[in-house]
Amino acid sequence: MRQVAFHRPSIGPDEEREVLDTLRSGWITTGPKAKRFESEFAEYVGAKHALALSHCTGALHLSLWALGIGPGDEVITTPFTFTATAEILGYLGARPVFVDVDPGTFNINPARIEEALESGANKRVRAILPVHFAGHACDMDRILNIAHTYNLKVVEDAAHAAGSARHMDGRGMAKIGTIGDLTCFSFYATKNFTTAEGGMITTSDDALAEKIAVASLHGMNKDAWKRYDKSGSWYYEIHDMGFKYNLSDVHAAIGLAQLKRADDFMRRRGEIARAYNEAFRSDDALQPAYSEPGIEHAWHLYVLRIRPDRLKLGRNQFVEILRERGVGCSVHCIPLHTMRYYQRMYGYRDGDFPVAEDIFSRCLSLPIYAAMTDEDVAYVIDTVRAITRENRR
Ligand SMILES: Cc1ncc(COP(=O)(O)O)c(C=O)c1O
Repeated sequence: MRQVAFHRPSIGPDEEREVLDTLRSGWITTGPKAKRFESEFAEYVGAKHALALSHCTGALHLSLWALGIGPGDEVITTPFTFTATAEILGYLGARPVFVDVDPGTFNINPARIEEALESGANKRVRAILPVHFAGHACDMDRILNIAHTYNLKVVEDAAHAAGSARHMDGRGMAKIGTIGDLTCFSFYATKNFTTAEGGMITTSDDALAEKIAVASLHGMNKDAWKRYDKSGSWYYEIHDMGFKYNLSDVHAAIGLAQLKRADDFMRRRGEIARAYNEAFRSDDALQPAYSEPGIEHAWHLYVLRIRPDRLKLGRNQFVEILRERGVGCSVHCIPLHTMRYYQRMYGYRDGDFPVAEDIFSRCLSLPIYAAMTDEDVAYVIDTVRAITRENRR
């Protein structure tokens, strides 16, 4: 039986060469490669500043911290995301105000953001934290308008969205990383391109960039990483509260090689998504993934929904059978408001966000990555269609 893993990173001779070069250079933690990775990523996105960090979780934490969000403050975000998006609010003593998502894109629904602001129930909202779910950019025109009206900051969780873009009013296509006040990316092992573990913040704000650069390495003055180098000085000053969120040169080396291949990876993911959509469109037991017009989708995830009313089995059994037949799959995401921690900490309850819950009850994520062969893609399609055929009501 064929085996198709849920994910396999594309690591080749270029990554090996960059990492070996770093290992042999005598300098393996934050240094010249991390700096080069920052400038090449800034160029890739079209951002003024890019700050390399150890993960997107740290990037989100530092972003909100740099904006001064603290105890008692509120941040509007989506429950249909990985816990990292909202867990960092707990670090700051702030509260996530969850609002429901759009049933097509799975992204935060701007109409629900407005309702949360107009209801009067959330009096200390300081920021909006949209997540570009699966790599489909959120409706940033509407989100920026709301932020402007209510004087809120916008921090984007772009963990899934390196390479994504969307059409913006008066601007044309805008890459994610050039829109909100701060945008946070992930280079975790399964992401569209990887540093094994890693993250990045982009911004056009000079003062925020400076503050984050300093805070990411213990609050030491900028370029303190050079203190062991003959071009640097042993002396450093602590300018601000600090964190240990720097990215090592070993990780950055992988990123430098991956970045050169990022457009090819994204093209291949797009091809796979189109093949899935084409194959599943005609099956009334399936609801293929969706992309709005004016979107360049990074296709970090391919989320397929089943229609349980047309099938004799539910999502969990569907996932189980796929796995038994050699197709690795997963489920993204378990809505945060249904999790014990978020219920205990913030009083959320099952049933609070019916759109997110309906998506969760029917969704599964199929393999989608650049290293998949055409035969892998055909096997996934055939297996999914065989399961619906065998289990039709
Ligand atoms: C939406 C979202 N935000 C944030 C993160 C955190 O990323 P990292 O693992 O780089 O901290 C993830 C990780 O999967 C994610 O899916």
